[in-house]
Amino acid sequence: MSSANQSNIPVIAIDGPTASGKGTVAQLVAQRLGYHYLDSGALYRLVGLASFQRGISTAVEADLIPIAQNLNVNFQGDRIFLEGQDVSDQIRQEVMGQRASEVAVHPGVRQALVARQQAFRQSPGLVADGRDMASVIFTDAQTKVFLTATAEARAERRYKQLIAKGFSANIDVLLQDLRERDARDANRSNSPLKAVEGAHHLDTTSMTIEEAVNQVLKWHQAD
Ligand code: C5P
Repeated sequence: MSSANQSNIPVIAIDGPTASGKGTVAQLVAQRLGYHYLDSGALYRLVGLASFQRGISTAVEADLIPIAQNLNVNFQGDRIFLEGQDVSDQIRQEVMGQRASEVAVHPGVRQALVARQQAFRQSPGLVADGRDMASVIFTDAQTKVFLTATAEARAERRYKQLIAKGFSANIDVLLQDLRERDARDANRSNSPLKAVEGAHHLDTTSMTIEEAVNQVLKWHQAD
């Protein structure tokens, strides 16, 4: 598909810090509109997992770039397969979130994932969630949303998610981990997490998921 054609396909870019609820909101918005969905964080988590499996440190960019370039990944509904193996639950573990944010600081790793992310832009539209969807990957997105919630609210949500998946979790450790991850994501020199000009700001601390979804749909209709 040519880029000229692709630019006619609407994109809703939803960026925000870890556990802000953007994944859930983005998926539901995509469902309601019949759009495709890109979970860009999953790609960084997959690089984190694939490098872990090969015993490669998250500090060595030169070793991580080929892994990012050659990721053999398959998205099937809400399941994610790496080398044919279902790793959907494994990549959600906190340790993979941490590794993801460590590999994500390397410009070469980010660059290696650009085309793969842009390929998700297919008719009739795309909802993409991450940190740099509006600022780097889909700069011409029709609707840009910066979604936040307090660190405490996010830690509590992440806690409930992990427990529901049968993992053990400690809320104080989670809060500390996500503050560390926020700091690393916001302070890195390459594609740091920040709201772009023209983004709609949505603080979901005291909102239900349904309210957040409806707000994004309303903005998209008006944009
Ligand atoms: O969104 P999620 O928590 O799955 O992302 C995991 C990590 O991947 C983030 O902490 C961030 O460092 C990185 N990431 C990124 N750019 C994106 C999506 C995720 O740097 N677009």
